[in-house]
Amino acid sequence: MTFRVRIEEAVKKNCSNIVLALDFPFENPANRQTLCTRAERVLDAVYPYICAVKINHHLFLPLGVFDALQKVLKKVHEKGLVAIADAKINDIGSTNQVIAEYYFAAGFDAVIANPFVGWEEGLQPVFETAGKYHGGVILLVYMSHKGASEGYGQTVADSETGQKQPQYVLFARKALKWGADGVVVGATYPDKIRKVREVLGGKIPIYSPGIGPQGGVIASALESGAQYLIVGRAITAAENPAESAKEIRNMAKAYLNKL
Ligand code: XMP
Repeated sequence: MTFRVRIEEAVKKNCSNIVLALDFPFENPANRQTLCTRAERVLDAVYPYICAVKINHHLFLPLGVFDALQKVLKKVHEKGLVAIADAKINDIGSTNQVIAEYYFAAGFDAVIANPFVGWEEGLQPVFETAGKYHGGVILLVYMSHKGASEGYGQTVADSETGQKQPQYVLFARKALKWGADGVVVGATYPDKIRKVREVLGGKIPIYSPGIGPQGGVIASALESGAQYLIVGRAITAAENPAESAKEIRNMAKAYLNKL
């Protein structure tokens, strides 16, 4: 079963398009066990309201993907969810291949990668490795932070046609050409989501981070074409993560029903 089918099954099971970003503030490395327990507690509380868990350096570094993080990954799968490794893979192909191989071998279902490095000796080995594991590759197309315009938003000449285009539009086209399983466009830029949706024509789902603390709004992200919402601190830093996840899931569900 492919990653896209696996995440869709989780969406149906929990009636949720929320991808939980399992992030916590810096913890003294001596207290790594506390961090792991906290991650497991949040997961135990919110799993009925999400479809996937996105993990990044917040947990890769202190817990280790083959060490304590294995407990978290096991729980993700036991709950019928999928795990996305947000390492924003961004190096030369031989290194990218090893990075991707470790994440898939650890049990992740998909990896996030940066199309800036290109295909040949860049992301091609990542797609090949993902194929071996029936895993997914999700590409950054327009990030959610303010400085995103300096890279993803610059106007560049298309290397094939010479035509001037916004960088992120070319990345969306590459996502189609390379057979990506998802693209990331910040919820903080609904106009960019709309443009990317137009380029993708519904063939690849859009994942949108930046809801809440970064200023993104659920309704405008969904209305513009986001299919999945990536949500971190609005859930993990909430007084009651379960209540918060349920509320966000229900708001998204209600809005999608209206569309
Ligand atoms: P918050 O707490 O702001 O966390 O809900 C968002 C999570 O998503 C990550 N993030 C991104 N990941 N492309 C990505 O692949 C992006 O544009 C992007 N913006 C935020 C962030 O690291 C955190 O885990």
